[in-house]
Amino acid sequence: MHHARLTPFPQGFLWGAASAAYQVEGAHDADGKGPSVWDVFTHLPGKTFQGSNGDVAVDHYHRMEEDVALMKEMGLTAYRFSVSWPRIFPTGRGEANEAGMAFYERLIDALIAAGIEPVLTLYHWDLPQALQEEYGGWEDRRIIADFEHYCVALFQRFAGKVKYWVSLNEQNYNTTNAYQLGTHPPAVQDRKRFFTANHHAFLANATVIAAFRKHVPNGLIGPSFAYSPAYPASSAPADMLAFENAEEFTNWWWLDTYCFGRYPQAALAWLQKTGEAPDIQPGDVAILQAGLPDFVGVNYYYTTTFTDNPRDGATMQRINTTGQKGTTPSSGVPGLYRTTPNPHLPTSNWDWAIDPTGLRIALRRLASRYDLPLMVTENGLGEFDKLEAGDKVHDDYRIDYLRAHLQACQEAMSDGVQLLGYCPWSFTDILSWLNGYQKRYGFVYINRDETDAKDLRRIRKDSFFWYQTVIASNGQKL
Ligand code: BG6
Repeated sequence: MHHARLTPFPQGFLWGAASAAYQVEGAHDADGKGPSVWDVFTHLPGKTFQGSNGDVAVDHYHRMEEDVALMKEMGLTAYRFSVSWPRIFPTGRGEANEAGMAFYERLIDALIAAGIEPVLTLYHWDLPQALQEEYGGWEDRRIIADFEHYCVALFQRFAGKVKYWVSLNEQNYNTTNAYQLGTHPPAVQDRKRFFTANHHAFLANATVIAAFRKHVPNGLIGPSFAYSPAYPASSAPADMLAFENAEEFTNWWWLDTYCFGRYPQAALAWLQKTGEAPDIQPGDVAILQAGLPDFVGVNYYYTTTFTDNPRDGATMQRINTTGQKGTTPSSGVPGLYRTTPNPHLPTSNWDWAIDPTGLRIALRRLASRYDLPLMVTENGLGEFDKLEAGDKVHDDYRIDYLRAHLQACQEAMSDGVQLLGYCPWSFTDILSWLNGYQKRYGFVYINRDETDAKDLRRIRKDSFFWYQTVIASNGQKL
């Protein structure tokens, strides 16, 4: 579809940016915070790029006022951040730690005072280590009640101040790394355990959405999903079937369960045959159906192209965490699908396909299938940046990426998609979980590297000034 005129961005469109607690806060043991699984995991030898960790991160915990002042200067109308569960409940449950609550209250108040709508993510992977040790975290049903207890504490405290809430961030990406690739804690490689942990996360997600209705009746809540739309490598029927398999197993498995309250049929049938299906107990489907979201948060970075995979074919592989282009191997599930490079698309140094049209396709597929409003809760380009004389960072490649993806949002809105806002990843540079500090995403450069926290100086990149103009014109000057 080539529209003659694009629908303008609506008044009240949320012009945001995003972050996550572990990736920015630092202050890993301040004010009564307990350890998360990431605090422990990043200190194990060989788990992250050059042993990088979030002990200090970009020290947002101590520089919050300065960071919010920069957001205000840039003109943001929304800011997506996550709350660290072990800051609120150091051992996962029990009495809330007031100092942890108070930090987020100060942040939320500062945002509101700056005219910025807070978008609060309840869970961005930093599970209290105590719950991992006590019962294996997401592998045990006890996680559902503990997660609800934690979320309800936040609902009660912030219901009057926060309208937009994200339940789970990228359950799909996090659990794939945690239980298939073994690259996120608890570093397991077992598909049966993967589907079990996911089933509990679905139940926890629906349970807190049901609780949200009671505590935050005027708010909106939904999960953020890492949506990489599947493409077929060719029109050969075997590739088309691989593409259907991939879309169902890597996307609809999560999204259908969130939005319809049931698993997609072909994938479930396959897993029941292989013995990997989750144990769906009586009452589980009712729980899923009582906690459907108000919107879907879309984290979009790239599309993935799939081809046929024989029964003795490629298995899951480690991802590129070095920025050495061209080092990502083909990865898949034998008998279902495997990835293959898309010759039509350029890639970043981390081999992520750059595909703005893929974002338009993503938004349309989700809007048509689920008939829900959408919010882009992440989108961005992780690249090496160069700090030049006079504190300049000329990240024109990032501007090009974001501009093209905002155009895709506008095209999707012209196609009828209801889009609440756009929160690119990330506001400042952050710790990339496995890729250290050298894979930068921010509008604001942070002067630090993997091993040296330096002075943590904040430096406005060229993209900062570009986005400022975009926001000031409500998207008319892209
Ligand atoms: C998403 C996460 O996977 O993408 C973020 O929600 C993450 O936390 C971002 O940083 C970019 O991924 P990466 O691996 O490049 O840091």
